[in-house]
Formats: sequence, C-alpha cells, structure tokens
Amino acid sequence: MARQRIMSGMRPTGRLHLGNYLGALENWVRLQDTYDCFFAIVDWHALTTGYEDTKDLTANVRGLLVDWLSAGLDPERCTMYLQSDVKEIAELHLLLSMITPIAWLERVPTYKEQLQQLEGREIHTYGFLGYPMLQAADILIFKAGYVPVGEDQLPHLELTREVARRFNSIYGPVLPEPQALLTEVKLLPGVDGRKMSKSYGNDIPMSADEAVVRQKVQMMITDPARIRKADPGHPDVCTVHAFHKIFSSERVQEIAEGCVKGAFGCVQCKRDLADRLAGRIGPLAERRRYYESRPEVLDDILAAGRDKARKWAAETVEEVRRAMRIQQ
Ligand code: TRP
Ligand code: SF4
Repeated sequence: MARQRIMSGMRPTGRLHLGNYLGALENWVRLQDTYDCFFAIVDWHALTTGYEDTKDLTANVRGLLVDWLSAGLDPERCTMYLQSDVKEIAELHLLLSMITPIAWLERVPTYKEQLQQLEGREIHTYGFLGYPMLQAADILIFKAGYVPVGEDQLPHLELTREVARRFNSIYGPVLPEPQALLTEVKLLPGVDGRKMSKSYGNDIPMSADEAVVRQKVQMMITDPARIRKADPGHPDVCTVHAFHKIFSSERVQEIAEGCVKGAFGCVQCKRDLADRLAGRIGPLAERRRYYESRPEVLDDILAAGRDKARKWAAETVEEVRRAMRIQQ
C-alpha cells in the first residue's frame, strides 16, 4: 500500500534555533520513515511580509536547507523543495482563489493579529490576505493526508479544509481534506527565561558549536535568590532547570532535589547541561559542516526535490483543471 502523504513548510526568514529543532524538525525527521513526506521552503510566503527587502532571501533559503539537513532530514527519505520551483502551486492558488470568499480570509485570526503586530509596514496587500490560501494550495497540491504543524497553524488548516470542501462540492471530489498532525510542544525558554526567539536575541541557534552552547548556558538565568551553594534553590524559576527537564529528563528529579536541599550547585548544574546539549548538537554540527562545504550538493537536492514535487503537483492541477472544465 502507498504510504500516506505528509506536507509541511517553513519560511526562509533566517537561522533556526534549538526551539524550532525540538518543536518541529525532530518531529519531521521521525516522520520521514513512516510517511511520504514533502517539505517546502516557502519563499513565496516569505514575500507576503518581506517583499520590500529580499536581499537575504537566497542565503536564507540555503541556510534553511542546511538547518534541515543538519537535523537529519535525508534527501533519500523525503522530498525537500523550494516552493517557487513548483509553479503548479501558483496555478492552484489562482484557481482556488476563484471560489474562496474574501470573508473567509479576513476572519482567519492570524490575519488581524499580524496586521497589528507588523503595524507601520505596508502589508495591506492582496498577497498577505492570501497567505492561508497559498498555504492551502501548498497542501492540497499533494493531496496530503496530514500536515505536521504547531497549534498556531490550526486556523490555516481549517481554511484549507473549507476550501477543499467547497471545491469538491462545486466540481466533484478531487481534493481530500487534510488533517493537522499537532506537534507536541516542549516549551524551551530562551537563555533569559522568556520565550526563545531570534528577535529577543535570547536564542541558541541550531548552528551553535560546542563553544557557543557553553557560552549560552553560562548566560542562563538561575534562581536569583540563590547566592551560595548552601542556599536552598527554587528550580521552578530557573532556566537551567527548564532545559534539564527537556534534555536530562531521566535525572531532572535528582537535580531538583539537590538544588532544593542546597547540595547541588549551579556551576555543576550548568556544566552538566552544557555537556548534555553539546552531546545532542554534536551530530548536527558534523552534518552541517558536510553540507556547508558542498553548495553543489544543495543544488542537487533542491533540483531532485523540485522534479519529484512537480510530478505530483502537475497531476493534481491537471485533475483540477479538468474538474473545472477549463481544459478541453
Ligand atoms: N504558515 C506556515 C508557518 O508559518 C508555513 C507554511 C507554508 C506551511 N505553507 C505550509 C506549513 C504548508 C504547513 C503546510 O509555519
Ligand atoms: Fe538552577 Fe541548577 Fe542552580 Fe538549581 S542548581 S538554581 S536548578 S542552576
């Protein structure tokens, strides 16, 4: 039996951090053995908010691909491609736009939120309103059964399903409704205890080498009330502890107890975490070095991904055209 198809994507807007790795990429890496996976670098989506400044786009595309490969996405086991290489997606987007009421797009919650957040930039554009439509085309073009995403993307999935339903009810059953495959969230704080985010400058880049990891762990905020090792600590307010919960889960209990009793010191605690993180990112760094020094391999991966993606995309668009009777 053919494997179920999975589709997901990321915008090429700059380097990924450890939170992105844990939240999304690790999951993708697991999925590539069970499903037929299509992973897109969605450069058209990056244009919806970033159309004015495109000078870093090419570098970001390649950077994202290297982040993916370093995490363990394997071109032999999944299809990685650049969205703008698959023109059929643009055609499907156009055709779907004919049947999609504007109100459906206006009421997607991320739309108004983003308009507010990005106030001052001119994003009252046709393209930005159509962001979720383009995402629907991304997904429906492969007739994907599942879409691994975070909770924030659920409204976009819902719109995708509604558009598919509407298409099928007008023209007959062509586009299956995809389901979200919710990514389990592991809350990874930034080194200052706030949410990890590139824009806060508190992130640990996926590309960090061991020295950078150690330096970042050094910067982490511990329990501010604990001055001497003998002072009883409060692991719940400590960023180092939050990391241990995720990366050293088998001994986090012991760490917390030692901290509360004033027996386990912050210096050792940080050293243990740094060792753990270094062990975890070691294999990533190795793969990164391999791909970073071989730009032609990156080109080959994108070319192969493009060809495979286009083959399926062309089939779906053909079916869609025929169902709409715009092709004799
Ligand atoms: N909107 C998604 C995000 O910001 C990116 C995306 C574009 C996507 N097309 C997609 C995700 C298709 C899943 C499927 O994360
Ligand atoms: Fe945080 Fe560890 Fe220090 Fe406790 S011992 S305050 S958990 S760094």
